[in-house]
Amino acid sequence: MKHLITTEQITRAELEELLQLTDDIVKNPKKYADSLRGKVIATIFYEPSTRTRLSFESAIARLGAQVISTENARESASATKGESIEDTVRVLSGYADAIVMRHGDNDSAIVAGRVSSVPIINAGSGSFAHPTQALLDAYTIKRQRGSLENLKLVVAGDLKFGRTANSLIKLMSLYRGMQVYSLSKVGMGLTDDVLDFMRKKGIRHTVCLDWNEVPSDVDVIYQTRIQKERHEVIAVGAEKKDAGLMVITKKVMQRFSKNTYIMHPLPRVDEIATEVDDDPRAIYFEQAHNGVPMRMAILIKALEGK
Ligand code: CP
Repeated sequence: MKHLITTEQITRAELEELLQLTDDIVKNPKKYADSLRGKVIATIFYEPSTRTRLSFESAIARLGAQVISTENARESASATKGESIEDTVRVLSGYADAIVMRHGDNDSAIVAGRVSSVPIINAGSGSFAHPTQALLDAYTIKRQRGSLENLKLVVAGDLKFGRTANSLIKLMSLYRGMQVYSLSKVGMGLTDDVLDFMRKKGIRHTVCLDWNEVPSDVDVIYQTRIQKERHEVIAVGAEKKDAGLMVITKKVMQRFSKNTYIMHPLPRVDEIATEVDDDPRAIYFEQAHNGVPMRMAILIKALEGK
């Protein structure tokens, strides 16, 4: 793996290798304690993050490597002085063996990948892609369900500005028989890019207007938050208009099967009621925890042979 920019670059063989490696890391963590000893990894985040940055930094520590980091690069890095992504990455390439970067621009990881002499790992680029999230999501689904074939996947929330649901759909398209149901607020549905992608791949897609239109035997409900930071203007009231329809409550979950898992990349705002947290089908915190072993696997693969 030279760079990890988007889920679309990942082959099924690569995904299965990462899933197997993650599983082995979970079972035998000590075996990997020195895997990246002597390596230095830079984490540079121009947008806020709790899970991605800290799970990467935990992964780096657990692999015996060292981290150099700017937690709020938009304010503390030289971008404030007008430095381009290209120049920052050219410089960091001399300081670190790999760069984990989050940035608000859709093409930021692509731009970084063009000039970097060390692997760039996209930790979220605008509304374009969040491949490491999709990989840990795939691992979480595989652990719960055993198989990634014939997945009935509901994506809900802000599907237009979010980057996690589209990244997951693209990754899961590597497996046969996926069926996608989407449920979003008005104007926040899946983008043409994702709709075209699904059409070309022959993935069945149904738009649902409320939870009652979602089949009760779906495998995964992937809820997402409204990406307020990416909305230039949210008309007053527009956000509230159909808010009640989107929230997952205990009552909503009554109609779903005991094997319908609720996932969320987090952070959650109010789109999953906290009363649902005790439901055994709510696996979003476990999902977040899976970020550490999956990101350990990603770093091992990114630095393999280097
Ligand atoms: N899921 C996710 O990307 O969370 P953070 O924004 O906290 O990294």
